[in-house]
Order: sequence, then C-alpha cells, then structure tokens
Amino acid sequence: MGKRNIQKMGRRPKQFSRSRNNQFDRKFRQSWNRLVIRPHMTPPVLQHIPVMGEEVVKYVVRKKGGIYVDATFGGGGHSKIILDNLDENGRLIAFDIDDESIERGRKLEKEDSRFTIVKSNFANIQNYLEKNGIGKVDGIVFDLGLSTFQLMDESRGFSFRNANSFLDMRMDSTIGESGVDILNYGSRERLTKIFKHYGQISNPSRIVNNISLFRKKHGTITTVDDYLQIISVSCGNPAESIKYIKKCFQALRIEVNGELVSLSSALDTLANIVAKNGVVSIITFHSLEEEKVKMWKKKNCNPIIIQDYGSNVGNQFAQLTHGCIFPSDLEKSENWSSRSAKMWAFVKN
Ligand SMILES: C[S@@+](CC[C@H](N)C(=O)[O-])C[C@H]1O[C@@H](n2cnc3c(N)ncnc32)[C@H](O)[C@@H]1O
Repeated sequence: MGKRNIQKMGRRPKQFSRSRNNQFDRKFRQSWNRLVIRPHMTPPVLQHIPVMGEEVVKYVVRKKGGIYVDATFGGGGHSKIILDNLDENGRLIAFDIDDESIERGRKLEKEDSRFTIVKSNFANIQNYLEKNGIGKVDGIVFDLGLSTFQLMDESRGFSFRNANSFLDMRMDSTIGESGVDILNYGSRERLTKIFKHYGQISNPSRIVNNISLFRKKHGTITTVDDYLQIISVSCGNPAESIKYIKKCFQALRIEVNGELVSLSSALDTLANIVAKNGVVSIITFHSLEEEKVKMWKKKNCNPIIIQDYGSNVGNQFAQLTHGCIFPSDLEKSENWSSRSAKMWAFVKN
C-alpha cells in the first residue's frame, strides 16, 4: 500500500503542534467553530429556562398544601413554578451543591417563607428530612446536569466554548478534585474507565495516550483549550468530532462530580422519603442517567401503569406514563437545553 493511502486511512501519527496557540487540525477546528458559533445556542440574556416546567407541575404538584423537594435548585426555575402552584400551607425544600445556586436560593428564602434552601448533595435528602423532623414528602423533582449559569460561567470550565477557562468542572467548587487534577494525576486505569464508561468511547486508549503525551510535552493540562487539543488529536474520525468533544466533556464532568454515584444513592432513598401517592419526577439528559433510572425502575416499580393513585399494587412505585415524557416541539424550539430532555414520573403506592 502506498504512502498516500496509509495517510488517507489516518495511520499517520497525529502530533501536538509545536505552538500551543495553533492547536487544532483544520477539520477539527471547522467542526468546533460550527459548534461554537451557532447563534441559537447562546441565550441573549443569562438565564436558566426550566425544562418541562408545565409537566413538572402537572405530574408532581398534586396537593397545594403539600411538602415538596426540588433536588436540583440551579437557577430556581422549577422551584418558582412549584411555589406558584402551592397555597400558603405548602412548603418547598430545595437542594444544590453549587455556591452560586445557594446564593440565589438564599434570596428566594428571604422573599418566600414557604421556601428553604439547603447546600447538600441530593444523596443526603433523606438525612436532612429525618434530622429536621420533616417526614415524608408529597413530591420530588430532579432536573439533572448543569444549569445555564454553570455552563456559561467562564471560570468554571464546563463548556468547550470557553477555550481559555481553567478546566475546573466542579459543581461544588469547595471540595474534591477538579478536571485538571484528574487529567494531570489520574492513573491510566482511571482515565480509561472514565472515557470508556462515562464517555462511551470505544477506543479510550487513544485519548489516554494523548493525555500522557501532552503531560510529557507541556508539563500540565490547565485549560479547556489544552483538553480540546488532546481531544482533537484523539478523535479518529473528523466527521464525528462534535460528538467526540461532547463525549469527552461529559465523561470528565461525570467523574469530577461523581454524578452517577450521587444519582444512584439518591434513587435508593426515594422509597423512604416519598409519601403514599407522592410523585417523583426525574429529568434526564443522556443515556447514562437514563440507565440509572431504568435500573431503579426495574427494582422498584410495577410493570403496569396505574391510573388511580389509590390502587395498591404491591411494589413501591408505579410509572405514571407509558415510557418517559418528552418536551413539546414548541419547547424544544424555544429552549435549546430541553432538546435532549426526558422526564420520568413515578407515583408511590
Ligand atoms: C439543570 S440544573 C437545575 C435547574 C433548575 N431546575 C432550574 O429550573 O433552574 C441542575 C442543578 O443541580 C445541581 N446538582 C447537580 N448534582 C447535584 C447533586 N448531586 N446534589 C445537589 N445538587 C446537584 C447543579 O449544581 C445544578 O445547579
């Protein structure tokens, strides 16, 4: 086989450019630019539009004077919608691990005496409710992933659009390892696991090798740009580069924040914290979150869907709809972040 053919097949070893300012190969740069400059992806005003707000109220808020939990306060969008649908006896307790979300929650706490904000991982909701003598709740909402505030914050390193950001990626910036810590000090085994399981990358050794090469060549990985440079030389198929960038960012973020571990732990507590006829709603954004919900559902749900909340059919929960609920076309056109959302709703028997 001639030299030209080998090059076409991508066997020519890719290398990091000498200059850190000229980082991407041309095709990768073009794809990345397409991703970055899509005008509808950048909201003109920094706000987080709650995903499937109407559906959350429809399925979850059944008792106007009930006690509810917003497990992921974020920008407070779902909390505000829930509060709008409660009467003066209703109560809402919201959780988040991000200090800026907590700040927003503190403001709402001052404005509305029915509302409490708690800085804690949602895996600890049961502990909190028990310690504070609150007992079981009538509804709980999980809206997984990141808020627009986190994504757009250039100091957080969550978005591949902020190339100069420090690659932090911690939702709770006060504890744990950052993305930079993991990429610089993570073992080969750990990095392989991250890209294989959390990024669903079929050939993780390529990116793991390139992380190691980058560390040798430049000392440390520090910015989003450094990570993009590693990703660009690891992506085997330029046509798949956008997908590949997303997978790599998702993988690292899941590891940094222990997202799937927290989700599993929280799901395991639901039977103890939701009252009879109370509803759990979970909004997922990717297949790994869905997998966790499906595993929980298999263990905790009836195979049949009950129409009448009062019917007691043995298992702990029943799913309220056939499969999951999707945002309407109108919502998807108005709120880009909702495009991959799926809402799951379960009622406690
Ligand atoms: C998609 S946003 C929620 C947006 C919110 N529903 C709204 O309408 O404004 C997800 C939020 O959950 C928080 N979060 C993620 N994992 C968490 C966890 N394990 N415990 C508590 N909060 C978490 C994130 O910090 C983020 O603020």
